[in-house]
Amino acid sequence: MPTHQYDAIAIDGPAASGKSTVARELAARLELIMVNSGEMYRAVTLEVVRRGVDPGDPAAVVGVLREIDLHCAVENRNSMVLIAGEHPGEALRSDEVNAAVSRVAAVPEVRHLLVARQRELRDLGDLVMEGRDIGSVVFPDTPYKLYIEASEEVRHQRRAAEGQVDELALRDRLDSARRTSPLMVADGAQVIDSSKLNIEQVLNAAMEVLREQGWFERNPESATP
Ligand code: DC
Repeated sequence: MPTHQYDAIAIDGPAASGKSTVARELAARLELIMVNSGEMYRAVTLEVVRRGVDPGDPAAVVGVLREIDLHCAVENRNSMVLIAGEHPGEALRSDEVNAAVSRVAAVPEVRHLLVARQRELRDLGDLVMEGRDIGSVVFPDTPYKLYIEASEEVRHQRRAAEGQVDELALRDRLDSARRTSPLMVADGAQVIDSSKLNIEQVLNAAMEVLREQGWFERNPESATP
């Protein structure tokens, strides 16, 4: 018996590359569970920040990790991270969390626990999961892998338009340089540069890649007209 009977589409890329939008739209079109893995790293970080713990102190971060009650629920085909049964909402995207999340996400114990939780979600149904290490570490066996990138200038404009303070270049540097599962183009992933494309164009490019990777042969019922 295979451990996982469901399919996973892995979408990786740097911050503000447009990967969340692509993942959301693909999930809607193909009727998949949508998982934003960054939210899980943000949830742990939020608790680190709330408790006044130094995000640069791995032992202290692991202490928080052991104390918190973190769960992932799926509702209406959307995954949701819960801390002590509550969804933290907008607090996950606060400036403090933006500033600390890459350091928390670099702690191996944090990654170990969250990767295990992410893999469990695949037992619930076909899904699309976006993050930094989905194609390389979480689901290296999936044939369906995309890597969405965009120029730093465009990514800055997108974050500014959302009204967020986010040191993207620093976060990308930390995410790409960390020892445990750094951001990278996974083996077999197709790169889409979204800098000069609108959402519809990125989505069409993503559908084309999935077609080439065999998604619609395996899932003919999810083919769109
Ligand atoms: O996707 P995001 O910007 O919300 O992710 C927040 C941070 O979480 C990101 O800077 C790095 C970390 N992250 C990670 O290390 N691995 C993932 N699969 C997803 C996010």
